[in-house]
Amino acid sequence: MQFDILTLFPAMFAGPLTESILKRAVQAGTIAIRIHDIRAYATDRHHTADDAPYGGGAGMVMKAEPLAAAIRAVLNEVGAEGQPAPGSSQVVLMTPAGERFTQRMAHELAGYKRLVLVCGHYEGVDERVREALVDRELSIGDYVLTGGELAAMVVADAVARLVPGVIDAESTAEESHGGGLLEYPHYTRPAVWEGREVPAVLRAGHHAQVAQWRRHERLRRTLARRPDLLASAELSPADQAFLRSLGWQPGSTHELA
Ligand SMILES: C[S@@+](CC[C@H](N)C(=O)[O-])C[C@H]1O[C@@H](n2cnc3c(N)ncnc32)[C@H](O)[C@@H]1O
Repeated sequence: MQFDILTLFPAMFAGPLTESILKRAVQAGTIAIRIHDIRAYATDRHHTADDAPYGGGAGMVMKAEPLAAAIRAVLNEVGAEGQPAPGSSQVVLMTPAGERFTQRMAHELAGYKRLVLVCGHYEGVDERVREALVDRELSIGDYVLTGGELAAMVVADAVARLVPGVIDAESTAEESHGGGLLEYPHYTRPAVWEGREVPAVLRAGHHAQVAQWRRHERLRRTLARRPDLLASAELSPADQAFLRSLGWQPGSTHELA
């Protein structure tokens, strides 16, 4: 899968996307991450990429022409696997006014061949580029960042780890937000640390009991911390019975102590 990130500040990406798991995935050719400087597509002498807003007011707005030229150039490029088929690319604008990014969406985006992540800056981008070229607008949360760079890194990271071959499938099978539940707690050696013991069931090596304990911890934790998730979680009759024994009432999103 190919990530093309369009930004006015390419240097911000040195580090986060070139370390650890993503670095190995790039080296293995499982994913490709390319950073594009929007300013390089500005045709005037000063490479102007922003201008004052029509109607007045504070801040600058990213100009339509260089940004549109950058998006079009990237979409027209032939990647390592050849020109992606129509519909296999998504142009995603990072904006606090977008749809909230979730793990479900990360799974969906991991199915595309190419993701073009557009980072806004200043007051944002000229609305006409959004109308003409953007497939989807994503927000990483209800707060305002100075630019879309950190948001694009978050999306690229969350999506890349779901691309087959980047990490082993078992690691993503039961993690937080998979199936609508939070993850169970983890422990490693030593068995006792500062008087705190690893639960006995995890040390006994009985696989079925470990699996049941983990399932119960996922349910217990989700009910305690994010009961709102249970409304859309995949729950078996046994899950529902266990949750009811903890005081859960279907349809209620009240947090329990
Ligand atoms: C200062 S913000 C602009 C905020 C904009 N004037 C508004 O009120 O919606 C500059 C850029 O940061 C990015 N950004 C800020 N907060 C974000 C968030 N929560 N999620 C995704 N991108 C964000 C967007 O690309 C945005 O264009």
